[in-house]
Amino acid sequence: MKLLIHLARSRILAWAAGASLTALMVCAPGLAQPKPIELAIAADPTGPVIDRHIFGQFAEHLGTGIYGGVWVGRDSPIPNVRGIRTDVVTALRALKVPNVRWPGGCFADEYHWRDGIGPADRRRIQINGNWGGVPEPNAFGTHEFMDFAEQIGAEAFISVNIGSGTAAEAAQWLEYMTAEQDTTLARERAANGRAAPWKVPILGLGNENWGCGGSMSAGHYVEEMKRFASFIRNFHPAQRETGRMKRIAVGWDSDRLDYTEEVMKAWQSRVYSWDIEGVSLHKYTTGGWPPRLPATGFGHDEYAIALTDALTMETLLARQSAIMDRYDPGKKLAIAVDEWGVWLAPNPGSNPGFLQQQNSLRDGIVAALNLNIFARHADRVKIANVAQMINVLQAMILTDGGRMVLTPTYHVFRMYVPFQDAQLMPVRFAAGRYGEGAHALPRIDAMAARDKSGQVWLAVVNIDPEAGTSLTVPGYRTAAGEVLTAPRVDSINSFAMPAAVAPRPLRAGGSGPTLTLVVPARSVAVVKLSP
Ligand code: AHR
Repeated sequence: MKLLIHLARSRILAWAAGASLTALMVCAPGLAQPKPIELAIAADPTGPVIDRHIFGQFAEHLGTGIYGGVWVGRDSPIPNVRGIRTDVVTALRALKVPNVRWPGGCFADEYHWRDGIGPADRRRIQINGNWGGVPEPNAFGTHEFMDFAEQIGAEAFISVNIGSGTAAEAAQWLEYMTAEQDTTLARERAANGRAAPWKVPILGLGNENWGCGGSMSAGHYVEEMKRFASFIRNFHPAQRETGRMKRIAVGWDSDRLDYTEEVMKAWQSRVYSWDIEGVSLHKYTTGGWPPRLPATGFGHDEYAIALTDALTMETLLARQSAIMDRYDPGKKLAIAVDEWGVWLAPNPGSNPGFLQQQNSLRDGIVAALNLNIFARHADRVKIANVAQMINVLQAMILTDGGRMVLTPTYHVFRMYVPFQDAQLMPVRFAAGRYGEGAHALPRIDAMAARDKSGQVWLAVVNIDPEAGTSLTVPGYRTAAGEVLTAPRVDSINSFAMPAAVAPRPLRAGGSGPTLTLVVPARSVAVVKLSP
C-alpha cells in the first residue's frame, strides 16, 4: 500500500510540448522499469524554420581562441593556409558553421579595426586588458578573419565597438569591408590584398554595454546604439537594401531586463534613419558566479547543477520573448543568443584570464538541450553563438601546438547539422523525471524537424545518467542515425584519448506502425525517421 501511495504521489503526468519542459512524469527509481515514453510528432506544415544561424559560433581574441587555435602564422610548421590552421578548418567545415561572431565579446569594445590591417610589421601591439593582460599582436585582423570565415564556409558576424570607439570609426570599418565603389577605403582594402568587397550579414551593435562595454545605463546605451545604427551603412551591392544586414542591439543577460525593454521601446518609436533586426541575450551555464563547477572529475550532483542551470534558458527566452511581443507582436525582430555555453572553473595551472576548460559528455548534453530550446523558440530565436569556438569556454575544438582534439560539444554540433533550416515539428511527450539531491530534471528532451528534402529528423537527449530509456514513436517504423554517450558524465576527449566520447551508429526498426527506440543513459541521439 505504501508503495502504491508513493508511486501515485510521484507520478505527475503532464505534457512537454512546444516550448515547455515543465511537465514531468515521475518513475520511482529502482521500483519498476519505467514505461516507454511516447514521442508524438505533429506534422505541422506551419511550424517555424529553425534558422541555421542558431548553430553559429563565437571566436574572440581571448586566450588561445584565435592565436594558436585558428591563427598560427604563415611561417608556422603547423600546416596552414595563409596562416590559418588546416586541421581546424577541415574539422569546422564538417559543422557547416553558418556564422562566426568576432572580434568579441568584451574585446570588441576595445578593438580598433585599423590596428589589424596592413603590413604585419606595422600592426599595433596592444595589451588585451580584458583577457589575461597579455600582448595582442593584431596579426589576426579583418582580412585574416574574413579569410578564415571563407575557408570554413561561414558568414561574418562583426561586433562593432560602441564602448570605446566612435560611430565614425565603425561606419568607416563597414565601408572598408563592404564598399564596391572606387572610394579611398575600398582602394585601401584592395591595396591590402582584397579587391572585392566582403558581405557582412550580421552586425553586433556593441557588446554587454551594461558591463565590460562601458557600464552604460540602458537609456544611455539606446542613445548610442541609435547613433551607430544611423551612421553604419553596408555598401555591398547585394546588401544595400534595409534589412539585408541584421543589426543586433544589446539586450539583457539574466540580470539586466531593462536593456531589452528600453531597446524595444526605442524601436517601436523609431524614425526612418535607423533600424535594427534583433536584440541579443547572453546566458552562460555556470551553476553560480564566479564559475566554480569543475570541468572534469565531477559526479552526478554537479552534473545536475549544471543541467538545472542550462535549462533556465527556456525561462529566459520566454521572458525576453514576452517583452519583445509587447512592442513587436508581429515578431519582426529576432532574439540573438549571441553568447551561450558552459562556463566552468579554469583548467588547473592555466591563466585564469584565458578561460580554458575541458569539455565533457555533460557539456555535449548541455549543448543539445540548448539547441533544442532554441529550435522550439524558432519563431523568435534566429541567431545563436556558442561561446566559444576553440580553446575557450565550451569549445568545439581544443588545440595544443600542432595537436587538435574534437570535444563532445563538437560532435553534438555535427550531429545537429540536419536541423539547419529545417521546419520544426512539435513533439508531445511526458518527459519523466530524473532527480539528484535537490534537483529535479526531466529524464528526456526531444525535438523534431523536417529538412528541405522532406526527411524527418529526431533529436533525443537522455538526461538520466544511469538508465537507458525506451521511446515509442507512432507513425514511424525505422530510425537510423547516431548516438553520443560515454561511460561517465564527466568522460572527456584528451590528446591521449581523442575518441573516448564519439558518436556511434544507432538504428531501430520494427514491423508495426510504431517505432521503438532505446536511447542509452546520458546520451544525445539524432536519427532520421522513416514511416
Ligand atoms: O565569452 C567570454 C565573455 O563573456 C565575453 O567576452 C563577454 O561578452 C561575456 O561576458
